[in-house]
Amino acid sequence: MSNSRIAAIDVGNDALKANFGKLEHSLYIPNVVARDMEDRPVIGIEELDEKDPLDNLHIRVHSPALQENNAIYRVGNLATKTTNSTELDPGSYKSEEDQTLIMLFASLALDTVSGKDAKSSKNNVIDANYTLGTGLPLREVKEGKDVGYRSQLLGSVHQVEFLVTPKYQGMKVNIKFDEVKVYPEGFAAYVNLVMDNDLNIINKELIDKQILIQDIGGLSTDIAVIRNRNVDDDKAQGFNLGVSESLEMIRDEILTKHGVELDSRRDVVDIITRKNDRHHIMVKGSRTNVHDITDRILLELAKKQYRYLRNVWQKNSQSEICYFVGGGSAVLKEYIKTLNNRLDGFNIDFFEDENESIWMMANAYYKLISDYIRKNTKEPKKQEQKAASSK
Ligand SMILES: Nc1ncnc2c1ncn2[C@@H]1O[C@H](COP(=O)(O)OP(=O)(O)OP(=O)(O)O)[C@@H](O)[C@H]1O
Ligand SMILES: [Mg+2]
Repeated sequence: MSNSRIAAIDVGNDALKANFGKLEHSLYIPNVVARDMEDRPVIGIEELDEKDPLDNLHIRVHSPALQENNAIYRVGNLATKTTNSTELDPGSYKSEEDQTLIMLFASLALDTVSGKDAKSSKNNVIDANYTLGTGLPLREVKEGKDVGYRSQLLGSVHQVEFLVTPKYQGMKVNIKFDEVKVYPEGFAAYVNLVMDNDLNIINKELIDKQILIQDIGGLSTDIAVIRNRNVDDDKAQGFNLGVSESLEMIRDEILTKHGVELDSRRDVVDIITRKNDRHHIMVKGSRTNVHDITDRILLELAKKQYRYLRNVWQKNSQSEICYFVGGGSAVLKEYIKTLNNRLDGFNIDFFEDENESIWMMANAYYKLISDYIRKNTKEPKKQEQKAASSK
C-alpha cells in the first residue's frame, strides 16, 4: 500500500472532477466520450506536441469491467468536436455505463503519465497503484449498485493506452486499485460542509441539525436529507433535470435571434456568470444584450428547482437550512434567491465561490479517502512494532 496514490474522483454527468496525491494535481474533464471506429490518422508529431494533452485525449481501454473491451475513444474536449459523441443519459445508472469507467480510467492514466517525463521513459508501460475514493448517486447506492461497481474496479487490472495524444502517444498505463471506496453523493456533500481535511469538525452549529442539500448538476438534481449525522435514504429525492438543457436552449435562441453560434454550453455559462459585461455578446462587432433570452430561460428553470425544494421541505418540515451546491446552483443563484424572497422565505444558502460548489464532491471524497488511509496505515505499523518487540 506504500506506493499507492490517492485519487478522489467525482464522475459528474457534466464533468469529471478529480484530486490526486497530496492535492498537487487535479483534473476537470467534460464527461463526453466518442467511440472511434478506426485509428485516427497520425498527424505530424511535432505539430501534435504543441497541443495540450487534455484537449486531445485519445485512448484505447482494456478492462474486463467494460461491456465493450479494447475499444478506442476520444474523451473530453476532443470528443465534443465529433458528431457521434455521447453524454450520459439522465435516466441511466452511472454504475452500469461504460462511459463512467472510461472517464475514470482516462483521468487516472492522465494523472500517472503527467507525473512522468514521457520522452525519457524507455519503458512505455507504467504500473500505477491507486487508492480510490469516489461516489454514486444515492439512488444507486440505495439499490446496492455500489457493491458490484466496487468489486469490478478492484477485481482486475485496467489498461489505458494513449494513441494520438500529444506528449503521451504510445504510453500504456496499467491501473490497479489497492482499495476502492464508493460513497453516496449526498452524504459526501455533508461531510465537506462540516469537516476539514483531517475530518475535524469545523461546523459545530451544523453537525446535529437536520439539513437539506440540493445539488443541481448538469443533468440531474439531488436533494439529500441529513439527519442524525447521516443521509436519510428514504427521504432523499432525485430529479432528472439539471442546467444543461437550459444552457442548450439559450445557445439555440442566441443562434436563431442573433445568428451567433456559441461553441459550447461553457460559453453560455461564461456569458451569464462573468463579472464584466454579463448577458452581452458581440454580434458583427457590436455589443449586444441577450438578457431577455437568458433571464426567461433561467427563471423558468429556477422555478422548477424551487418547486423541488418546496416539495422536499414540505415532507421534511423540521429542516433548518438548505445548502445549494453543484455548478447549477452557481448559475441559478440569483434567480432562486429572488424567488425565495418573494415566496416562502426558506432558510437557504449558497457558496460564494462557484468552484466550491462544483468541486464539493471531489473534495469530500478526498477527505473521506484520506481519513480511511490514515486509519488503516497505522495498524500495520503497530503490528510490526509488536512483532519486533516480541522477538
Ligand atoms: N464555473 C462555473 N460557473 C457556473 N456554472 C458552471 C461552472 N462550471 C460549470 N458550470 C455549469 O454547471 C453545470 C453543472 O456542473 P456540475 O459539475 O455541478 O455537474 P455534474 O456534477 O457534472 O453533473 P451531475 O451532478 O448531474 O452528475 C454544468 O452545466 C456546467 O456548465
Ligand atoms: Mg454533480
